Amino acid sequence: MESIWVTETSIRRRAPLSGDLQTEAVVIGAGMAGVLTAYYLQQAGIKTVVVEADRIGSGQTKNTTAKITFQHGLLYDRLIHTLGSRGAFAYYAANEDAIEAYEHLIREEGIDCDFVRCPACLYSQKEEAVLKWEVQAASSIGMAAVFEKESELPFPVAGVMKVDKQARFDPLKFLSAISEKVTVYERTKVLKVEEDQVLTDHGCVTARHVVFACHYPFINMPGYYFARMHQERSYVVALEGAERIEGMYLGIDRDGLSFRRQGETLLLGGGSHRTGRNEKGGQYAWLRDKAETFYPGSQVIRQWSAQDCMTLDGIPYIGRFSARKPDWYVATGFGKWGMTSSMVAAQILTALITEQRCPVAGVFSPQRRLTGEAVKELGIQSVYAVKGLMKHFLPAKQGRIVPNCPHMGCRLQWNPEEETYDCPCHGSRFDENGHLLDGPAQNNCRRR
Ligand code: FES
Repeated sequence: MESIWVTETSIRRRAPLSGDLQTEAVVIGAGMAGVLTAYYLQQAGIKTVVVEADRIGSGQTKNTTAKITFQHGLLYDRLIHTLGSRGAFAYYAANEDAIEAYEHLIREEGIDCDFVRCPACLYSQKEEAVLKWEVQAASSIGMAAVFEKESELPFPVAGVMKVDKQARFDPLKFLSAISEKVTVYERTKVLKVEEDQVLTDHGCVTARHVVFACHYPFINMPGYYFARMHQERSYVVALEGAERIEGMYLGIDRDGLSFRRQGETLLLGGGSHRTGRNEKGGQYAWLRDKAETFYPGSQVIRQWSAQDCMTLDGIPYIGRFSARKPDWYVATGFGKWGMTSSMVAAQILTALITEQRCPVAGVFSPQRRLTGEAVKELGIQSVYAVKGLMKHFLPAKQGRIVPNCPHMGCRLQWNPEEETYDCPCHGSRFDENGHLLDGPAQNNCRRR
């Protein structure tokens, strides 16, 4: 089922590329990060085009819950320990600037997209001390965070960490308007990138600057992003008839839920798991059950799922694609915070390409040093990859397709809930006939 954003907005169709083209910058991917990057590059005087394999906003932008915030779970205490106070502050400042940038842009361009400032809260039903600790860490770098005992949620909480002046909006209404300001070629699939040549199925774009803003970079080397990220799926139900809440909430306990209002509809999210690890299904049923318990009498009007790229240290990879490709750039690994991170990416990449000073770029650099925690995470990812690859050689159940991933060969897992084949290694997904739904794979599965 499609998200509520899709049912409310239809974005104008664009023609595919027709033949070869020369420009200054080419962005691969017309989701929020790609379109915003193209917009700011264009504003800075860099001639830019966007190529998109499908439609504008047809990737993860249409599945987000569209919270715009610098409160990204229990993060700041950890960042202070791994990056120091300056690094943690840079992360916070970049995300705070992103909220301001959205507001400014929406006002400047006169975009009607239901943008509302509202508080963002982390809640726990048992961990008061952890929340207080996080409040203290956040406050130490200048964030106006407070601990409260009360919430708007329909169950008792041990505490809430609250930050004011965050925001929510309708992502597709925004994207529909802002994409009118840039040149996008839809249904134009990139087949290969070689230096300044982006070869598509409709012609070649030659550009000095190449930006990969396509959710998960599909080029394995250089960059090695496949070894540095995995993907997670999470689920949302949209409820009618639930009590109104003003703030956006995220639970930090195991099985914590996400709450956020859009008009009179409540978006209730949760059930996150590594892609390829939902053999039993039941995530929607679990969310519906929660909805019935907390909002009796409410009605589920839509349900959908999202797919997020998770980095080793929880910080997106935004910056130069690789030391070996100084004119290639990347924006990926946004975790569950795609909207804010998209704006951060657009700001950083524009600064790098136009050779402006960007004090926060180092924190997000894909070439940053691995922290101890990131090294541990790398070990975990490698175990998943080895297990997935070993299963490649095991006999598979009879079916229409060969259930091995065309990306690097891991054995695919059937996901009964969404009726897809999902890859536990790096998160590619395929429909029941083996057609590609999500990368990094670029091709369909082999048929028997
Ligand atoms: Fe990499 Fe499947 S996504 S092997």
